[in-house]
Amino acid sequence: MIVSIILSFESSADETSVAVVKDGNKILSNEIATQIKSHQRFGGIVPEVASRHHIERVTILVDEALADANITYADIDAIAVTYGPGLVGSLLIGVTAAKTIAWAHNIPLVPTSHLAGHIMAARFVKPIEYPALALLVSGGHTELVYLPREGAFEVLGETRDDAAGESYDKVGRVMGIAYPAGKTIDELAHQGKDTFNFPRAMENDGTYEFSFSGLKSAFINTYHNAQQRDEVLNKENLAASFQAAVVDVLVNKTAQALDHYPVKQLLLGGGVAANQGLRTALANLLANYDTEFIPVPLKLAGDNAAMIGAAGEIFYRKGRRGTYDLNADPSLEFEEY
Ligand code: KG4
Ligand code: ZN
Repeated sequence: MIVSIILSFESSADETSVAVVKDGNKILSNEIATQIKSHQRFGGIVPEVASRHHIERVTILVDEALADANITYADIDAIAVTYGPGLVGSLLIGVTAAKTIAWAHNIPLVPTSHLAGHIMAARFVKPIEYPALALLVSGGHTELVYLPREGAFEVLGETRDDAAGESYDKVGRVMGIAYPAGKTIDELAHQGKDTFNFPRAMENDGTYEFSFSGLKSAFINTYHNAQQRDEVLNKENLAASFQAAVVDVLVNKTAQALDHYPVKQLLLGGGVAANQGLRTALANLLANYDTEFIPVPLKLAGDNAAMIGAAGEIFYRKGRRGTYDLNADPSLEFEEY
């Protein structure tokens, strides 16, 4: 078997990360510098601040990733880098660092989509069997993706407005919860009940598309109306009701996709894949299907470079190569391959 060592970069949002991945499924190192504290007081990512932090951290993280993996540049077969989607100023830092090292050490460069990375983080659990279906839920994306074979990604449907994680963060902001609010709302939800019965948009419209802005508005209206009446609503029940609406829609659409696309595995990736309510609901759903459920490990649900190494290894093996004029592509979806 061919052994490959991939150095990978991720800098699409507010995490700077550099990893070393062996054969696309073993993590030798995965250094992650989060900037959450710098963005918290603004209630979201400030692009200019994010870029500056990426610049400050990226070379230090390369040194740490190599040291932790106990390798040198001479051991690296390829460099995988997130070149989209994400914030252009953030992406450019990772892309520039990757290109510079690729050029200086004459190592092949493999441009990789952040979205493919989130899904391929499942490779760290076990080998992916095709065809597979992926539910990708993050701060920027909510998509159902069909994977007919290795390296191929067909988007069945995506959100028409807010992403699932984005709606958690927006609702959290109204409740006075620090950014990013997903984890805290998830914890509150487990202590409450679904008493508000918020809308489940597009649940049975026959598409694989999502919409979360109506739910967000319903939540905010309920919250503000109560505030105007000096009424304090039960936080736990609010969180539980919001989460139930999000999870219901995600699980329902996934079930509809599974009915039309019988697959061997369902992969769950992206920051919101850490959601306990969603993981439990999908595990329960799959009890009725001949499909294996592979949620990415909690530690690899959020942005990290190891997942870029996992996806990048596939593209590297298939011969994908980037040139030194590789640019960031803020609205990239999946590479055509
Ligand atoms: O994948 P990610 O790290 O960054 C993007 O590519 O967007 O996802 C971050 C998102 C945030 O919106 C955060 O609130 C959400 O993931 N998140 C959660 C949980 N943990 C993180 N949402 C719901 N439940 C969680 N436990
Ligand atoms: Zn992400």
